[in-house]
Amino acid sequence: MSRSRAVARQISYLDEAAASDVGRRYKGRLLGELRIGSGHVVLDVGCGPGTDLSAMVAAAGPDGRVIGVDRDAGMREVARRRTRAEPGVEILAGDAHALPLGPASVDRARVDRVLQHVDDPAAAVAELRRVLRRGGRVALAEPDWDTLAIDATDVATSRAFTRFVTGHVVRNAGIGRSLGRLLHDAGFIVESVDATVALFRDYRSAEAILRMSAVAERAWRAGHLDEDRARAWLSGLTAGPFLAGFTFITAIGRIPPSAMSGVGRAGVHQAIGA
Ligand SMILES: C[S@@+](CC[C@H](N)C(=O)[O-])C[C@H]1O[C@@H](n2cnc3c(N)ncnc32)[C@H](O)[C@@H]1O
Repeated sequence: MSRSRAVARQISYLDEAAASDVGRRYKGRLLGELRIGSGHVVLDVGCGPGTDLSAMVAAAGPDGRVIGVDRDAGMREVARRRTRAEPGVEILAGDAHALPLGPASVDRARVDRVLQHVDDPAAAVAELRRVLRRGGRVALAEPDWDTLAIDATDVATSRAFTRFVTGHVVRNAGIGRSLGRLLHDAGFIVESVDATVALFRDYRSAEAILRMSAVAERAWRAGHLDEDRARAWLSGLTAGPFLAGFTFITAIGRIPPSAMSGVGRAGVHQAIGA
């Protein structure tokens, strides 16, 4: 598949995920908890096709600035096109491990389903700490793919499918559960860690997000699932009642407004969930 077709497919997946019940729920909550205020400089790392940039612009107001960073040129092009009419939006080429921004230059940062793909999640979160100002807030959202459970009479194939996803499809598949620790270790106060269950009760909506047929085919081609058994498993999923789900973790970190408040590893005492 050509690179542009692959990007177009990924964008249609991202649009569908954002429009889904669970997508709207966690994205809305995450942006609310980010507490974007009028005049803020807001950073979206791994902004993709600009899914949430307009909502950020609306929250930051005419005196604010919204910066989307993505390493993929195809994503940046679509993000630019979609935000052409929005004032105060900049789309920059850059990598989460080395953001193209100066120290203490942004008030708010959001990272949504990007850390699951990066080489070094801890370094990427440390980079967020570098660019955030005192009083800054960061919002992270990542799935925990080890929690993926798909109801089927062939339970063993469901489990093997999840193991294939965690071992061969997503680089940092268990990142969701680590978000609080990553924030803490980077010197943030961990304000909250929450879970949203993404639950699918019909095959079609699950297929749009989980891509079970394509992933199962990849797994049997790579020798991780038996083809006949996986085909029977897939056809069983499409018939009758369906249930699949996984846990999605969101976490908020903050930096106290003044240095006296004790930012840094030694100064962070707040418990997760407090
Ligand atoms: C799953 S998409 C999420 C897009 C967007 N955050 C959203 O919620 O729709 C992940 C995005 O992160 C970008 N990305 C992955 N690794 C990156 C990195 N190391 N630095 C910057 N962007 C990265 C990808 O190009 C892609 O656009």
